[in-house]
Parts: sequence; C-alpha cells; structure tokens
Amino acid sequence: MNLSQFGEQFSSGSGILSLMDDLGNALASGGDDMIMMGGGNPGHIPEFQDIIQKRLQRIASDKECFQRLIGVYDPPQGEKDFIDVLSDLLRREYGWNVSSKNICLTNGSQAGFFLLFNMFAGKFSDGSRKTIRLPLAPEYIGYADLGTSDSFFVSNRPRIEMLDDNFFKYHVDFDNLKIGSETGAICVSRPTNPTGNVLSDSEISHLDTLARKQNIPLILDSAYGVPFPGIIYSEAKPIWNDNIIVCLSLSKLGLPAARTGIIVASEEIIKVISGMNAIMNLATGSFGAMLAHDLVQSGEIISISENVIKPFYQEKMEKAVTAFHNEFKDIPYKIHKPEGAMFIWLWFKDLPITSHELYQRLKARNVLVVSGHFFFSGLEQAWQHQHECIRVTYSQDESTVKRGIAIIAEEVKKAYADGEHKRG
Ligand SMILES: Cc1ncc(COP(=O)(O)O)c(C=O)c1O
Repeated sequence: MNLSQFGEQFSSGSGILSLMDDLGNALASGGDDMIMMGGGNPGHIPEFQDIIQKRLQRIASDKECFQRLIGVYDPPQGEKDFIDVLSDLLRREYGWNVSSKNICLTNGSQAGFFLLFNMFAGKFSDGSRKTIRLPLAPEYIGYADLGTSDSFFVSNRPRIEMLDDNFFKYHVDFDNLKIGSETGAICVSRPTNPTGNVLSDSEISHLDTLARKQNIPLILDSAYGVPFPGIIYSEAKPIWNDNIIVCLSLSKLGLPAARTGIIVASEEIIKVISGMNAIMNLATGSFGAMLAHDLVQSGEIISISENVIKPFYQEKMEKAVTAFHNEFKDIPYKIHKPEGAMFIWLWFKDLPITSHELYQRLKARNVLVVSGHFFFSGLEQAWQHQHECIRVTYSQDESTVKRGIAIIAEEVKKAYADGEHKRG
C-alpha cells in the first residue's frame, strides 16, 4: 500500500495506538486473566451510572426528546441547550466571563486537541513554522501523534523536587523555559496524565503570562480536572480567560463511550473549531450532551464530582500507594506525589533494564502497565529518566490492583537483582 505522509503517520509506532491495542486485545480475548493497569478507562461508579441510567430512561420515554437524541444533526458548535446551560454554570459558579459563543463540543476531547494543535502549529502562510510547547515532560501520550507535520512538539524537562517517604514531584522549570516566536501554543494537562501532578495556580498564571507575551494561547487540558470531573486531591482553582483554552471532557466522569469533549475559548477560536467540526464531522454527537444536560443545568455535576467521583479515586489512590510502600520495601523506588487523575507514576532510578523491557516482562505475566518512555514527546536531548518510569492505573477493583502491584514488585526486584549479579 502506498501511503501519504499523513497515512504513514497514523499507521506506525504510535504510543497511543499500542496502548489502545493492548487494551482492546486484552478485552476482546476475554481479558479475564489480564490485570489492566495500563489504560485510562475510568472506573464504573454505581452512583453515577444510576443517575445516567435514569436520565436515559426519561429521554427514551419522551418522544420529542428521544427524537432529538437520535434523529437530528446538531449545529457544528454542538448541542445548543447543553452549551447554554454550561455557559450559565461557568458564569454563575466561577465568574468566567463566557457566553454560549465561547463554548463548542467535539467528539471526545482527543479530537479537540487534534484540531487545536494543528490550528496553532505547523506551517504558516508566511512560510514560518511553529510548534506546540509542552512545558513539563512527561506529558499525555495521546498528544504525541496529533501533529500533521514533523517536529511538532517541543517539551522541557521538569525540575525534580525530592520529598519524604519515597515521594517526588515535578515542577515547571521556568529558569529554562524560553518561549519565543517559534511557539504556536503552550499546552499542559492538569492534573497531568501520566504523573497525577497538579500544576499550581501560580504556575498556570506564569505560563499564561509567557503565552500572552508571545500573543499565543495557553491550552489547559482539564480532562481529569476542574470544574469537572474534579479528580484533584490538592488545591486547584478553575481558571479561564480569553487567552486560555480550557478543554473539558465527560469521559472521566464515567461517560467515555459518549465521546464528548468541550472547548471553552475566545469567540474567534470557537468559530474556527465549529467550522472544522462541520468539515470533518458535519455535526458533533448529541448523546453525551443530552445525557449530562440536567446535571449541568442544576449544577449537580460539580457536587457529584466533589462528593462521588473524587472520593472514589482518592480512596483507590491511597490504597494503591499503601500497597506500593508495602511491596516495594527493598527497592529504590520513587512515587510521584499523587495529586490527581487515576495514575501512579513510578520511578526506578538506575533500573538495569529499560521501562519498555519491564513493560514487556509484566505483560508476559498478564499485568498491563504503560512504559514511561512514551510520555516524553518533544524532548530535545535524550534523558535516562525517560527509561526509568512506568505508569500504573489504579481505577480497577482493590484486589486486582493489589495483585498487580505485587507482580510489578517481583519483576522490578528481579531486574535490580539481575543487574547486581551482572555487575558483581
Ligand atoms: C490528559 C488527557 N487528555 C485528553 C484525553 C482524551 O479524552 P477524551 O477524548 O475521552 O475526552 C485523555 C484520555 O485519556 C487524557 O488522559
């Protein structure tokens, strides 16, 4: 098959493809034996599912509503009623100066990032090229292949703070972060996938200032963050202004199959995204927007995030951290301070094998994790650290997560012991 560069880009060696393949194959083959600690599938939260099930029943039993759910193309900006109640909520609760003209939907926020990144980086009509700057690597694996031209991302190593009890934390290294005219937009996920790091309000405001100096936007990926689904265990203010593009999603609330991404941005940007939606999709799907409409209208989406979703993950995180501390006693391990999302990021300093090899050994033992090296897209210089980390998801049930952690500990111990043996 003779593929264009565009075709080739989507068919070879993508981290997100191998991750989704792993997930899909394990599930398709029954998945019973596999301990799934790789993907970002949210957990199944009965309280949330009950609310959505009831709403779906109400829609299904109302002829007019049902017709809207299945029989109408929405405008390219997305389901109008949902956008109206969401802009009301953001104004009312957070004082964001937004109207319905500042919001559009996409078929999943992943699709939104594809549009945003290629809107602000790549080749420009004056012949110049611009890149997307990821100011703190490691950063979300799903960005890495979204650029339609080469050298699309530039990322920066973080400053590492060592903490007590085998914890550490990444910070944006502002001393070495130079944003010039080569940058088309800055992007961070908050909380960060894969580390669960939450950039502080002052780090966000510093990044916004750097972006404004270059007249470029700051893209804030809040797939796990505030205002919803609010999976943040530290402090973080929901921030928006006309230079910040906030990307939200209904996925991590528990609706990943509804494929509903939300972009909050200046009217100018929303117009362009809506046009792209029309060209690529004609319209966005209405399913997620209609299911979540009442929760947004009443503001319940915020209280559910705070009182149901966040505690569900926080409890799992705390149990997983305790299990890691117990199982890893004899290993030189470090855990990134888990401040949000649904992942533990582990660092094994001077591990004698690469994280990719460790991933393969774990897969052979029916434990799926993600090798850390996928998360360093755009680094200009090689860094040993990128081959010493893995990402582990803790959204599954407690006993499964515990079994997985015990196997990870066994394999890591073995790798260090073999390394000692070879050296000795
Ligand atoms: C940080 C981050 N951003 C965006 C997405 C995309 O989510 P969705 O397309 O389901 O909205 C994900 C999915 O895992 C994610 O982890």
